[in-house]
Amino acid sequence: MSVTAVSPMIPDASAPVGIFDSGLGGLSVLRAVRATLPRERLIYVADSLHAPYGERDDDFIVDRTMAIGEWLVGQGAKALVVACNTATAQSIALVRERLPIPLVGVEPGVKPAAAVSKSRVVGVLATAVTLRSARFQSLLDRYAGDCRFICQAGHGLVQAVERCDTSSPALMALLESYLAPMLDANADTLVLGCTHYPFLDRAIRQIAGERLQIVDTSVAIARQLERLLDAHALRNTAQPDTLPRFCSTADGESQRQLAASLLQIDAPVEHVDIRSRRARLPEPDIV
Ligand code: DGL
Repeated sequence: MSVTAVSPMIPDASAPVGIFDSGLGGLSVLRAVRATLPRERLIYVADSLHAPYGERDDDFIVDRTMAIGEWLVGQGAKALVVACNTATAQSIALVRERLPIPLVGVEPGVKPAAAVSKSRVVGVLATAVTLRSARFQSLLDRYAGDCRFICQAGHGLVQAVERCDTSSPALMALLESYLAPMLDANADTLVLGCTHYPFLDRAIRQIAGERLQIVDTSVAIARQLERLLDAHALRNTAQPDTLPRFCSTADGESQRQLAASLLQIDAPVEHVDIRSRRARLPEPDIV
């Protein structure tokens, strides 16, 4: 019996774009996609029930990414944005191979950071899984050049954003403990290697002032999506502006709050139950 529930429907340009993250971080990508492609219909899935992914094992992340990708295909998505560096690092090749729609992933902006840093010292904040992934190592090998990259796992930061905490004293102290060694080492550029972190930009500015230029790849991802839709003749030019369809595997309360306060989008959040593919496998016979 096959457990893959991929829709046989062939999407057209009026179909929605699916965007997914472990939680609320992908909303920073959704913001850029809406600005670049205001006519596209969007379905956003936050897997907040299972966030953070950044401290999960690799199989779990691949399993959730495939399950949510398949669910979005089943909802008629014409393209998928994996708006999560951690899920991209662990699963993008497999998901690209298995899903029948074009997709875009997210990677830390090592290349643009190396291009703009004058001090040749760059800080990277990302999840532990992203930093230890082969894809991230390969980005450093290809693009770091003569730059020194100080890589710091942002333990606790995803959880803070999931609680809609972008400025509490405890969060500021945590963030400062991550940024101080970078500033002490004369870093002049900071790569935000997790889509949750752009929501901490004001806090980062408060700590670092103008000493760090922030590299956030969300606008580049939106442009990449635009190119991809054009290449597949899937760009929607007719649809008037609509609110995104927000979905969450948790209760969606934080999502609604963060979208309203930081994106000025007041939209309801649907609870969705997206079972892991492993959980859908039939139980083995007990002998
Ligand atoms: N927004 C995800 C990323 O870009 C966060 C991963 C997590 O849930 O730890 O990596």
